[in-house]
Amino acid sequence: MDDDAPDEAFTDLRTRHLGGWGVVQIAAGTGLAVYAMWVGVLQPGFRRVPLKLQVPYIPASKAQVKNVMTLMRGRTGDLVDLGSGDGRIVLEAYQHGFSPAVGYELNPWLVRLARFHAWRAGCHGKVSYRQEDLWKVDLSKCKNVTVFLAPSVLSLLQKKLQVELPDDALVVAGRFPFPDWSPCRIEGQGVDRAWAYSMQAQRQHTRIQTCLPGGRLFIGSSPLQYRA
Ligand SMILES: C[S@@+](CC[C@H](N)C(=O)[O-])C[C@H]1O[C@@H](n2cnc3c(N)ncnc32)[C@H](O)[C@@H]1O
Repeated sequence: MDDDAPDEAFTDLRTRHLGGWGVVQIAAGTGLAVYAMWVGVLQPGFRRVPLKLQVPYIPASKAQVKNVMTLMRGRTGDLVDLGSGDGRIVLEAYQHGFSPAVGYELNPWLVRLARFHAWRAGCHGKVSYRQEDLWKVDLSKCKNVTVFLAPSVLSLLQKKLQVELPDDALVVAGRFPFPDWSPCRIEGQGVDRAWAYSMQAQRQHTRIQTCLPGGRLFIGSSPLQYRA
């Protein structure tokens, strides 16, 4: 066997220049791979969702999940994760005694992955992952809600939650806080931080703002059309 062969091959590679055409080929190949990944794995399920409401999948860190569950301590009953990704928060919630624990997720690959994780954890049939658009889910009976979504959609989600959730609901947001709500508790630091919001306190706060002079009705900081 020729011991020098690998060395020669590396030397050959080092001295050979890629050239303009080589760079174009690598750039095109990388672009194509990223596009295929986006269309085939990340995009499915989002075709009917307006672009400005599309939120990419980023899994919550372990510390973030822990902070979310710390803020949920003392609560019981159902829990819903809006945009449940690979299902980690729902699974953790079930293991902390929440039932039913339900995740809503549009991406079918992530729904399958979440079900696989549940099966592997021995929780098959105990948690539920539904391939549904979170904007169309009726939340009027949900007592515990978790979200980890992009800041760009949180002000709209705020309004949906405010209209639909019962007074005794608790909402926990991971990584990004709701823009206009005041949290009752905060846990963790940096990207792992989580914020808890009591719906009852939130509604009282909004009612006070609504009564402010000036003839404008405020939901959080956004004025709605209202004439005194
Ligand atoms: C930032 S990830 C969070 C995933 C998971 N909750 C976690 O904490 O690990 C947001 C998830 O929301 C999902 N999502 C975005 N818009 C959605 C919609 N309209 N309906 C259901 N799921 C949605 C995305 O596919 C993505 O998996």
